[in-house]
Formats: sequence, structure tokens, C-alpha cells
Amino acid sequence: MLKIAIFVDMKTPSIKALLAEGSQHIGSTITLTGWVRAFRSNRFIQINDGSCQGNFQAVIDYSRFPEEVLRGISTGAALSITGALVASIGSGQSIEMEVQSIEIIGAAPVDDVQKTVMQPKRHSLEFLREQAHFRFRTNTFGAVFRIRHAVSFAIHQYFNDNGFFYLNTPIITGSDAEGAGEMFRVTTLDASRPPLKENGEIDYGQDFFGKAVNLTVSGQLEAELAALALGKVYTFGPTFRAENSNTSRHLAEFWMIEPEVAFNTLHDNMDLAEDFLKHLCRYVLVHCQEDLRFLNDREAQEQAQKPQHERSELGLLDRLQFVIDNPFKRLTYTEAIEVLKNSTPYKKKKFQYDVAWGIDLQSEHERFLVEKEFKCPVILTDYPAEIKAFYMRSNDDGKTVAAMDVLFPGIGEIVGGSQREERLSVLEQKLAQFGIPEEELWWYLETRKIGSVPHAGFGLGLERMVMFVTGMSNIRDVIPFPRTPLNASF
Ligand code: 4AD
Ligand code: MG
Repeated sequence: MLKIAIFVDMKTPSIKALLAEGSQHIGSTITLTGWVRAFRSNRFIQINDGSCQGNFQAVIDYSRFPEEVLRGISTGAALSITGALVASIGSGQSIEMEVQSIEIIGAAPVDDVQKTVMQPKRHSLEFLREQAHFRFRTNTFGAVFRIRHAVSFAIHQYFNDNGFFYLNTPIITGSDAEGAGEMFRVTTLDASRPPLKENGEIDYGQDFFGKAVNLTVSGQLEAELAALALGKVYTFGPTFRAENSNTSRHLAEFWMIEPEVAFNTLHDNMDLAEDFLKHLCRYVLVHCQEDLRFLNDREAQEQAQKPQHERSELGLLDRLQFVIDNPFKRLTYTEAIEVLKNSTPYKKKKFQYDVAWGIDLQSEHERFLVEKEFKCPVILTDYPAEIKAFYMRSNDDGKTVAAMDVLFPGIGEIVGGSQREERLSVLEQKLAQFGIPEEELWWYLETRKIGSVPHAGFGLGLERMVMFVTGMSNIRDVIPFPRTPLNASF
């Protein structure tokens, strides 16, 4: 097997590599680059290069350095330091550097640092959001974005190992896959003076593409075309929803992963989703231990401030292990409605929204099922046709469709998917019922005419997954530059 060492270059190693393997290289002279996290007693520099949570300690003999260099070693400054690796006598680290030379690459004047998130004190996540240009330099966001990378990598790895092909679907599209009409229009027409048709409507025939187009809400319809030839495909791309929901779980721009598999039924689809989500939890537990421990402890400290009844029962690491170890509870929407109607909060009128067969479940209902009733991830299936998209396969009862939503603790819906309607005549009826013109989806319908097969897929919101594995409670804190209603800074 091809093994790539992480210690690529012993002369300028990353701090991650150094902390992992540096003790085998005592006596070597190395050069480190990074940012100062702390400088104590004119002697100990804690330096971080972003490769990992841990800092590296460099020790200087201050009598050997001019005053201006010592003054330049301020929190936030970028340094290049060269010296010998030695065993550390202090506690807290096994190795450190005996510094021979220091170059201040980027100064960090103390007055400027004090206006930013880099001054060494605890900041609220809300404040950090306004400082998105600097929040990467905090321990919390360093951990979150390293884990986000690991989750993305694990997604590609999982599908590659299981024979799926990565498919890039268009970002600019003419179709509204979800039929919810929550799309951002893409146009080069002059908004103040668009060309009009005789009936007064905007004439998109004169627009760049000769028709009205939008940013995609899902790559699914295109992925279905590919799955019906390549067998197993997945998309992983930016997704846009112009829904005006200012919640802690909605973004206007997010990343979605959509596998689509020919010949799969709803049951195969549930098995795939469960195995996939467990794989992602396992991957981060194995590969992101240090960052997870940091976030676990951070959360524990926050929990300790809360009243007993608001604390979560399991810590972050235990929640991940729990998902890996336990089968997801599977039940139908109809069964879930019964459970909700028999629940104490329903009887005591504690739910804000009413419960009745046919309603779209609200987050409070989903979270009750997951967190209070079953205390594990839940897969709900067979929803009423009216509240789901046109492409979901009709069940024999004539009322429900082969839909599935995976609900996670603390998150609610993390995955939405279904078996697709592969029968041409039924699909045509559904389009008519939903008022979708067949001309718009002629290419989609064609696939049901030649070699149509049962097939199924689902969508995972990357940010909701990253929320779960990091324990962050606001989706704005797991995407580098969040886009939400009235907010597109940076
Ligand atoms: O349930 P949704 O809308 O399903 C689809 O788009 C299907 N086409 C997927 C498929 O079957 N191929 O979205 C799928 C997931 C949700 O479960 C959620 O995790 C995430 O995408 N999601 C959002 N994440 C952040 N912000 C939003 N506004 C989101 N809307 C959906
Ligand atoms: Mg959904």
C-alpha cells in the first residue's frame, strides 16, 4: 500500500507533524512558521500554524535578542523561527525548540490586536461572526474548520470506496427540483429597466440564457439521469435556498451531498443513509481526536453554566459513539403522528404547533421524537404525498409517498430522501397535480420511457452534519462565510 509520511520535510515541518513525531528528531535544526498565541516571561513562545489544535513551545534566551525583536513577538504576530529540537524539561510538552534565530514576518501591533478576536479572552460566538476574517485564528473555529474538512474528505472516501461516481451538477439551472419556489434568479438583465413582453411580464427570452434561470436548490434530478446509466453516483456542491427562515439551522447557501442509486428501494436507501452517517461519525472520532476533545470540553464548560434540566445527557464524544453503536429507530410518519398525539407535551398543549395527520412536522415535533421519545436517531418514512416533492414514489395506499427523513438529536432533519417515481404514467399524473409543465422536465420524463428502473437517493446537508459532529448549535458557526437573510458580509 502507498503510504505517504506526514513528516514531508524535516527542515520546515508542520506543528502537527512535529508534535506527533518530533521526539524522534531531537538534535535536528528546524524552521517553524506560524502565529504567536502567547509569549510568557520573555522566554516561552507558544506558536500555532493551524495544522492542529496544539501549540509548539519555542524557548528563547532573551539576552541574545535585541529589544525590537522581543517587542515584535506579540500575540498574533507571524514568525519564522529556527532552532534545535530538544527534550523539554517543563511539563506540558515532551519536546520544544531552543531558538537560534527569529524573523518577524508579520507584526501584530498590540493596539490593533485589542480590537480583534485575538486578544486573549473568551468571545461570544455572535461577536466572532462579525469578525469572520479573524475567527479562523481562534481555537474553536480552527477545530470546527479542520473537522469540516475531515467530514468532506470522509464523504468522498465513503462513496469512492463503495463504487459511487462523483457527479458535478449545474449550479445555474432552469428547473426547481424541490418545487418549493425558493430560488435565487440569475440574470444579466438590467433590473431597473428589464425588457418586457406585451403582457407586461419580464421577457427572459432576451436574457443571457434565453430563458429564466436560477441557482440550484438540488442536483437530484440531474443525478437521477446519471444514476440511470452509471448506477451509483453522488453530488457534493453548493446549494441555494431563498427561504426567508432566519433559524439556527437554515442557510441561504449551503453544501449538499446527494447520492442516487439505480435499483435501490426505500429500504436500501435507509440502509445506505444509516451506514453513511455512521461512517462519518466514526471517521471524525478516529481522525479528529484532538479537536473533538477540545470541543467536547468547551461544551462541557458551557453545560456546567446551565440549569440541570437544560443540560444534554451525553457529551459530544459520547453522542458520536452513541450514533455509531445504536441502530436508528425506523417508523412511518403515520406512526409518528400517533406517538406525538399520545405524548405528554401534546396533551399538556406544550407544542407551539398542532399535531394532525397531514401536517408538515415542525422542528419541536422532530426533536421530541428523537430526544425524548426514542432517544436515538430516527428515520421517518411514508409521508403524506401533499407535503413532499412531486418526484417521490406513490405508495399503494394512494395517500403517502416513499419518502424518508433522518432526524438527529439537537439537529432535527439532517437527511431528506425518497425512492423515486419510476413509472411514467404515475409521474405524468403527479406533474399535472403539482401544476408543473411537462415541457420543463421533458428530459426527466424521457428516462422513464427507456430502461426505467426503481431508484432512490437522499440529500445530506453538510453544515447540519458538521453541527452534529462539532456540537456547535448555530449553523452560521460551521460554514466559513455564512449567507443568511440580510447577511452576505465578507
Ligand atoms: O430535504 P431536502 O430539501 O431534500 C432535497 O433537496 C432532495 N432533493 C434530496 C435528495 O433526495 N436528493 O434537503 C436535503 C437536506 C436536508 O435534510 C438538510 O440537511 C439540508 O439538505 N438542508 C439545508 N441545510 C441548510 N440550510 C438550508 N436552508 C437547508 N435546506 C435543506
Ligand atoms: Mg427535507
